[in-house]
Amino acid sequence: MQLMMTLTAAASIIVTIDGPAGTGKSTVASSLARRLGLEFLDTGAMYRAIAWRALTSNIDPRDTVAVTELALASTLRFDWKVDPPELFIDGVACGDAIRTPAVTAAVAIVACNADVRRAMVRQQRAIAAAHPRLVTEGRDQGSAVFPDATVRIYLDAAPEIRAQRRSEQLSAKGVHVDAAEILQSIVSRDASDRARSEGPLVRPEGADVVDTGGLDVERVVDALEVIVRRHARAIHELPTLGTRSTDEDETP
Ligand code: DC
Repeated sequence: MQLMMTLTAAASIIVTIDGPAGTGKSTVASSLARRLGLEFLDTGAMYRAIAWRALTSNIDPRDTVAVTELALASTLRFDWKVDPPELFIDGVACGDAIRTPAVTAAVAIVACNADVRRAMVRQQRAIAAAHPRLVTEGRDQGSAVFPDATVRIYLDAAPEIRAQRRSEQLSAKGVHVDAAEILQSIVSRDASDRARSEGPLVRPEGADVVDTGGLDVERVVDALEVIVRRHARAIHELPTLGTRSTDEDETP
């Protein structure tokens, strides 16, 4: 029994990816998880699910008491057998309904609710206890939710680079927005994310920092993979990670 517990504990690998909006955290986190054979925890989707459920239940996202009750009463579960993982709220699949502009606007309010955050953090830790081989992404994951994670990464990029990427994404969708306006909204979002009292955006002490400026998604994932393998080697967990042909000794 003792031996089994030791092996199980040693097989746990939690990789956290924090960073400001627009650094591509979700995309690289899910790609990294796939490469390494780990599960991907999309914590933004959890906040979105609560916001979506509030909207469909005619609850005003600003009604902190009602939204808190909803968050405390809701069970969130991921199905990792499908790719990308599907999130269920009380057994109902969220699908793309949590990605609409209305939900995006509502979630910005819901994610500032301290009690909702506490409920989400509790569920995130419970998910990690049941699925201890995870890449988890969100601005508070390494700093607040999993401060003892095996690997903590902070993705960064200059606001101008993030604005440029955002502008390219919007142009690709046929939406043309003034570049200066996008930059201004990124700068003010950074400031409010850093200033908020619950789960503020901070660089976790001791985290590996990766500046994604000038790197495409594949190169960022390459850099993260090198970091994770370096840490995994240190705790003798390298053999339990997925394999690919990358030179493991390459520095990012
Ligand atoms: O990454 P995303 O756009 O899906 O996140 C949705 C919202 O939730 C966004 O307003 C940021 C917020 N969020 C948060 O406050 N803490 C997290 N761990 C993840 C997301």
